[in-house]
Amino acid sequence: MQKITIAIDGFSSTGKSTVAKQLAKQLGYIYVDTGAMYRAVTLFTMQHGFIDNAHFDVNGLVGKLGEVHISFKFNATLGFAEVYLNGENVEKQIRTLEVSNYVSKVAAIPEVRYQLVKQQQQMGKDKGVVMDGRDIGTVVFPNAELKIFMTASAEKRAKRRYDELTERGDAVNYEDVLKNIQERDYIDSHRADSPLVQADDAIAIDNSDLTPEVQFEKILQLVEKTFEDLE
Ligand code: DC
Repeated sequence: MQKITIAIDGFSSTGKSTVAKQLAKQLGYIYVDTGAMYRAVTLFTMQHGFIDNAHFDVNGLVGKLGEVHISFKFNATLGFAEVYLNGENVEKQIRTLEVSNYVSKVAAIPEVRYQLVKQQQQMGKDKGVVMDGRDIGTVVFPNAELKIFMTASAEKRAKRRYDELTERGDAVNYEDVLKNIQERDYIDSHRADSPLVQADDAIAIDNSDLTPEVQFEKILQLVEKTFEDLE
């Protein structure tokens, strides 16, 4: 069967990665979490002291971008590929609220985007890929055969993210998580380079009140329809 490219974009904590992973597994496709790549660059930025609450040395980061090497390695136990920064598994470190607080600033830098988009296009060049992010259907793969745009209310998303963080033992409070989500929504959709927008040909799914099972069923139907239309 012909392979396609599936782009899943949307706001943070809409469950994009859960759906994308499930879909990739079902289809035998590669899954690429592009948010993890921006998070890994953010971790690098923090490790080099280029960013904190008071300052962001953009030139310092841009000057060192050549030293940032991001890769993915499949973890059979987890069933998905984990992200590596310069050979080190950083899957856990990139999911902290601290990284979340800085990532939108780092992701707004055109040089960062240019480098990561190039790598993403390379990873998906043979199709058979499910990629999630903010600009996959608009910038990375504007010709993707299926584009999905996921949304949900900020409060629902904050609750999901809060549950996820507390489950893994992070001491966070709901208000901080909600504030982070609202700030990221704003920065991600207002940045000059590749802002988060729904592609004209993307199908929007608001999952505020959908169970994961119903949502996945809906998406599978969209995939089937895409294959039928290609025949
Ligand atoms: O999907 P996520 O929440 O892990 O993404 C982290 C941040 O990275 C998000 O706030 C915006 C940025 N991002 C982006 O600008 N472009 C992408 N394709 C993916 C993520």
